[in-house]
Amino acid sequence: MACYGRSLDSPCTLALLVGFQFAFVLYFSLGGFRGLVSVLVHTTEPEFDYSRPHDVYTNLSHLGVPPPPPRNSGTGPPATGPPLRDCQIPSPLLVGPVSVHLSSPLSMEEIRQRNPLVSPGGRYRPPDCEPRHHTAIVVPYRNRQTHLRALLYHLHPFLQRQQIHYSIYIVQQWGNSTFNRAKLLNVGVREALRDEDWSCIFLHDVDLLPENDHNTYTCHKQFPTHLSVAMDKFKYRLPYPQYFGGVSAVTPDQYMKMNGFPNQYWGWGGEDDDIAARVRLSGMKIMRPPVAIGHYKMIKHKGDRGNEQNPRRFDLLKRTRLNWRSDGLNSLTYELLSRELEPLYTNLTVDIGEDPRLPQGKVPSPVKTTTPVNQRSTGKTGGTAKQEKRQESKVANMTVAKPAGEPAQSKAANQTTQEKTGVVK
Ligand SMILES: *[C@@H]1O[C@H](CO)[C@@H](O)[C@H](O)[C@H]1NC(C)=O
Ligand SMILES: *[C@@H]1O[C@H](CO)[C@@H](O)[C@H](O)[C@H]1NC(C)=O
Ligand SMILES: *[C@@H]1O[C@H](CO)[C@@H](O)[C@H](O)[C@H]1NC(C)=O
Ligand SMILES: *[C@@H]1O[C@H](CO)[C@@H](O)[C@H](O)[C@H]1NC(C)=O
Ligand SMILES: *[C@@H]1O[C@H](CO)[C@@H](O)[C@H](O)[C@H]1NC(C)=O
Repeated sequence: MACYGRSLDSPCTLALLVGFQFAFVLYFSLGGFRGLVSVLVHTTEPEFDYSRPHDVYTNLSHLGVPPPPPRNSGTGPPATGPPLRDCQIPSPLLVGPVSVHLSSPLSMEEIRQRNPLVSPGGRYRPPDCEPRHHTAIVVPYRNRQTHLRALLYHLHPFLQRQQIHYSIYIVQQWGNSTFNRAKLLNVGVREALRDEDWSCIFLHDVDLLPENDHNTYTCHKQFPTHLSVAMDKFKYRLPYPQYFGGVSAVTPDQYMKMNGFPNQYWGWGGEDDDIAARVRLSGMKIMRPPVAIGHYKMIKHKGDRGNEQNPRRFDLLKRTRLNWRSDGLNSLTYELLSRELEPLYTNLTVDIGEDPRLPQGKVPSPVKTTTPVNQRSTGKTGGTAKQEKRQESKVANMTVAKPAGEPAQSKAANQTTQEKTGVVK
């Protein structure tokens, strides 16, 4: 207890100061916090040789064949066969870096032929072992046929090698109003969970292709995960510490905890930062794979019509703290127009309403792209006109109904309403 002396020049104080100084010097000479951690914990960052990638279909022929059907020996109850063993973790089929082909993807039919074990709706379950992970991949979408084919060509073999049970959902925004990525994600999560008890939900941009299959499409038990930590577009670095865009993952519990995603971000930008802020505000943090694993390539494209930069994004972000409890999963309104099980994906077409900034009934110039997007109709028949008419009245109802519902929700809602009236001209 000698150190309780009051005077500043007591030997104890001096010793303490010198001690601190020494620690300080040591800290920086080791390269700050990271260096210190790596010295203490001896982290070994995995290393991969990206200059010699494997073909993304490598090892796919090794995917297990289903066990033979149970023998029915006539006597006794029908045999159910031995239960499947659990899938190994990590999967023995992984190869590390895979090559990414960005241009001229195959046709849907060709991709289907290369993935014979994928069942309608874009679903897969390892035939010879019990998967430990059940992942829904939700992709917000509009008018990006070539990107979609590149994604499916790449993602299906990638995920099958990981031996997880998965399904790919394309959430297509119906109509010509401004694109709203976060709201489409909300819809995708809700509809996917209606299908099945997924333990993990991936929020996946259509133009991002993972380059390393050790980047497993599974969730962290406690916290949301951001996967696309090293994109070629950002020179394989995180553009900023809170970045949460591109590809990220949540469990249904984490999703509820943060009240889902915002519904008010129409147009490009901001919504991913809002989601990152929700993670923080709901008491969680963001997990990330090592940079050496989280490599992604982005398919280059020109800015989309109908997805212009959202001029309100900074205003909205400032209000996340106030709004996140009232805007999100609990205020989500939409109409599911169709749900089709395509061979390689589930197509959810959804009306999420109109951008409130657009004058009522008017839509921006058509979302016609100059890129050779081949909007190949898969021969869907019936009721398009009828559907459109039904939609129009529904849209009108939604726009009217929403602001009316908000004041009931206290302070945060008040803010929102004010903001809204301030912006709509
Ligand atoms: C997967 O592919 C790699 C590289 O071609 C090979 O070394 C490995 O043996 C394969 N794994 C299996 C289980 O076939
Ligand atoms: C979108 O715009 C195109 C081209 O103007 C038009 O043909 C189509 O009917 C519009 N769709 C909706 C849902 O308004
Ligand atoms: C999804 O379904 C809608 C409605 O049938 C159709 O218009 C659209 O082309 C489909 N989109 C994709 C990507 O399959
Ligand atoms: C729109 O609202 C009106 C009045 O509330 C209602 O009569 C009508 O059925 C609604 N239409 C739709 C498509 O929901
Ligand atoms: C909403 O804002 C008005 C003034 O802007 C204020 O008088 C009112 O108390 C607020 N209501 C709530 C629920 O916060």
